[in-house]
Amino acid sequence: MPNHFSSTETYDNYMGRWSARFAPLFLDFAGVSDGERALDVGCGTGALSRALALAVPRSEIVGVDPSEPFIAYARAHGADSRIKFEVGNALELSFSDAAFGQSLSLFVFMLIPDGEKAAGEMRRVTRPAGTVAVCTWDSGDGGMELVSTLCDEAVKLDPAVEELRADRSMKYNHRGQLTELFEAIGLENIEETGIEFGMEFSSFDDYWLPYLGGVGPVGAYIQDLSPEDRDALREALRKRHLGKKEDGPFSLRKRAWSVKGTVPS
Ligand SMILES: C[S@@+](CC[C@H](N)C(=O)[O-])C[C@H]1O[C@@H](n2cnc3c(N)ncnc32)[C@H](O)[C@@H]1O
Repeated sequence: MPNHFSSTETYDNYMGRWSARFAPLFLDFAGVSDGERALDVGCGTGALSRALALAVPRSEIVGVDPSEPFIAYARAHGADSRIKFEVGNALELSFSDAAFGQSLSLFVFMLIPDGEKAAGEMRRVTRPAGTVAVCTWDSGDGGMELVSTLCDEAVKLDPAVEELRADRSMKYNHRGQLTELFEAIGLENIEETGIEFGMEFSSFDDYWLPYLGGVGPVGAYIQDLSPEDRDALREALRKRHLGKKEDGPFSLRKRAWSVKGTVPS
């Protein structure tokens, strides 16, 4: 997988800000328990770890991510001595068995090539009866308007974008797939839910400028366009989101699938 996750400020403007808004909703669903160590797999710039620090004020929290720049940024913005950020890979966690009371992962499993291995690692490092919880974006109809509206307009200008829309490397991004994953690794008491929220933009630039940082597959596509093609796409999206208005706020819908299960006792 090309590394689209190394630029920290641009990631935070593009996606991290939504992770920070979304993380408390995911934790409400997962039902974390205070006083027990918590693991954040694929912590990125640290949004879920920081939300955990508020939700479980007596717990130690460990965030792992393979991106060194993200870990350096997360350390600098951790703001809580109970959070430790480490470079690490979901496919081969460096922790001993049952080292955590709960293991969570936010917006990572769509990108991991071997989900069963990564989920199995989360199960291994979680104590018996502890919770494992994973959340991914929905790529189905209406699930992620941020990406689907952009692809709608981009495909009118360049039919090859159909490939980007149907990004076959994305996984676990439709209802039921995370439940199947948790069943496959032998978790119990599995529950899955869809969580929706609105992404509010204060202006067109608030929406558009983060794409220019090249974060994620869509950002990389936009960054590679010629200036003329980029301007054409920008104008089409401006019309789509603002209509005849010169500028102003607008919002897009986002849905995510969350699953939780417990490790057999
Ligand atoms: C969309 S970001 C989500 C980051 C963070 N959880 C958040 O919600 O802001 C995806 C993250 O998955 C990480 N990632 C990709 N492959 C990974 C792997 N094999 N193990 C752990 N993290 C991985 C990336 O480095 C990136 O930080």
